[in-house]
Amino acid sequence: MRKPLIAANWKMNKTVGEAEAFLRDFIPLITEVEDTDIVIAPPFTALSAVSSLLKGSPIQLSAQNMFYEEKGAYTGEIAPGMLTDLCCTHVLLGHSERRQYFRETDEILNKKVKAARAHGLTAIFCIGESLGEREAGETFAVLQRELEEGLKAIGPEGIVIAYEPIWAIGTGKTATTGQVQEAHRFIREKLSALYGNEASSMRILYGGSVTPENIDALMECADVDGALVGGASLKPDSFARLVRFRR
Ligand code: 13P
Repeated sequence: MRKPLIAANWKMNKTVGEAEAFLRDFIPLITEVEDTDIVIAPPFTALSAVSSLLKGSPIQLSAQNMFYEEKGAYTGEIAPGMLTDLCCTHVLLGHSERRQYFRETDEILNKKVKAARAHGLTAIFCIGESLGEREAGETFAVLQRELEEGLKAIGPEGIVIAYEPIWAIGTGKTATTGQVQEAHRFIREKLSALYGNEASSMRILYGGSVTPENIDALMECADVDGALVGGASLKPDSFARLVRFRR
């Protein structure tokens, strides 16, 4: 069976002090959670401090992005080895905000996913359609292209997919469970085409206005294996409730 995974994407939020205060409150709230993986992706500047506070806890550490080169003259970029050095186990790649605002293409993302895997990092690879694409009936074509191009020549190990319809991110407009399950089933079928039987053990997360109010219903969907959460992951009580979802 697929173990659920609930991941916090803090985006460009929280200073080091704010991240530390969050963890002081959050860790005691989840001590007896065993059947769900918990991942937190703070901004780069808080990774080191968060890494220290997570030692001995079951919570795993993720970066929100990285560059694919090992080192060198790439001002402002962060290499995969710098993340593993801080005990990161995961990295978010292909978030729609990276694709949209920073022009990350399928080709660049394919290099990033390869580099992450070469360093043993689990890639939480994000895909999803815009409102315009959905309205034009292009949702499945977009998901298929992003999967096939982004994961080209990459095996299934250490890959988690996050389906994040762009129109549901930060808008309070969650996709319906019907829309979510339909997209997740499609993604699972495409993963089967790429990886055969191994697709059945790959986790597919949903992201886009996930809250304590809607998490339980979302987790009921057969092909939803967890959530990637922005806004509702910023407060300890709220994120703890998400991690303790009820099926
Ligand atoms: P919100 O949960 O704030 O909608 O953000 C979703 C997201 O983009 C997580 O990566």
